[in-house]
Amino acid sequence: MKKHVLVTGGAGYIGSHACKRLFEDGYQPVIYDNLSTGHDWAVKWGPLVLGDLLEKEILESVFNDYQPVAVLHFAACGLVEESVRDPEKYIRNNIDGSKVLIDVIKAKKCPVMVFSSSCTLYGNVEQSVLDESLPVQPINPYGETKLAVENILAEERQAGGLNSIALRYFNAAGADPEGEIGEDHDPETHLIPRVISAALGQLPEVKIFGDDYPTEDGSCVRDYIHVSDLAVAHVTAMEKLITGELPPAINLGAGIGSSVKDVVACVKKISGRDFPVKIGPRRDGDPAALVADTALAQKELSWSSQYSDLETVVGTAWQWHQNQNA
Ligand SMILES: NC(=O)c1ccc[n+]([C@@H]2O[C@H](COP(=O)([O-])OP(=O)(O)OC[C@H]3O[C@@H](n4cnc5c(N)ncnc54)[C@H](O)[C@@H]3O)[C@@H](O)[C@H]2O)c1
Repeated sequence: MKKHVLVTGGAGYIGSHACKRLFEDGYQPVIYDNLSTGHDWAVKWGPLVLGDLLEKEILESVFNDYQPVAVLHFAACGLVEESVRDPEKYIRNNIDGSKVLIDVIKAKKCPVMVFSSSCTLYGNVEQSVLDESLPVQPINPYGETKLAVENILAEERQAGGLNSIALRYFNAAGADPEGEIGEDHDPETHLIPRVISAALGQLPEVKIFGDDYPTEDGSCVRDYIHVSDLAVAHVTAMEKLITGELPPAINLGAGIGSSVKDVVACVKKISGRDFPVKIGPRRDGDPAALVADTALAQKELSWSSQYSDLETVVGTAWQWHQNQNA
């Protein structure tokens, strides 16, 4: 019989890609989601249990019914601006929800949890290539919630209660290369789908916030990691934790910096469409460049990205959005 893996947030963007990968690797994902930002159409590789992280009794019954060997914990609210407007929502959903989940995991003696953390934890840093030895100093409530959960997991590890890892993603992007699932957020705040929306005529223009940064072309540089590469890293981390130990946190990024102007040019090239691009002022708090140092992921997970060159990231995302639009 296939081993069950509980995937909270498995109806969301990254969680659904992880479910596909789990299924391909011989596991049976069980999706736990309240569909607040996820979609039932993205649940294709296992049963959906409709429930909230705060609903302890439903969570307990899922563990009783499926006895998962591990939990991949993606479920969270993830909008930085919303977290500034409504920090209480983020505390309740991301921290309190994770606490309930961790309590149930421990009570049910499930040994392993992989947690979705974020490079947001590093805050505004001077250096452009970030490794895990940097101090964590989030500058918004969303980042604070990720740090709070990392801290709880660190305590649990020390107490020997739960073997876990926090995977700190940079910018998740792209879509399933086979076109079965992709990104569908509302509102969409991520750069690549927004530029694609402009190419599809759904947005009137693309705005670049600042072109006077100390980068090669003056626009901000970020690290876009393909969502299918993230999925592989999750399954690998889970398997390593089932049989042994990993460091408490590992960065997951492509290790490649792409500027906003690179992304715009790549979407124009791949789509064959032109659209207006306007240069606006810098946004507060946007560092010039954030790129992952991926050495620890390579060493500990024997993992390196396969799909995270910008052309493949944009190409798979373009295919997905174009199909959705058709
Ligand atoms: N997308 C990125 O670039 C990125 C970067 C760093 C970290 N992350 C983290 O990765 C995780 C997944 O991100 P995503 O982009 O797939 O987001 P998403 O919004 O597409 O997926 C989140 C899923 O969790 C579900 N959910 C939220 N709160 C819940 C709750 N209380 N109970 C049950 N289900 C709940 C939503 O319905 C959704 O299906 C999040 O934890 C996010 O903070 C994402």
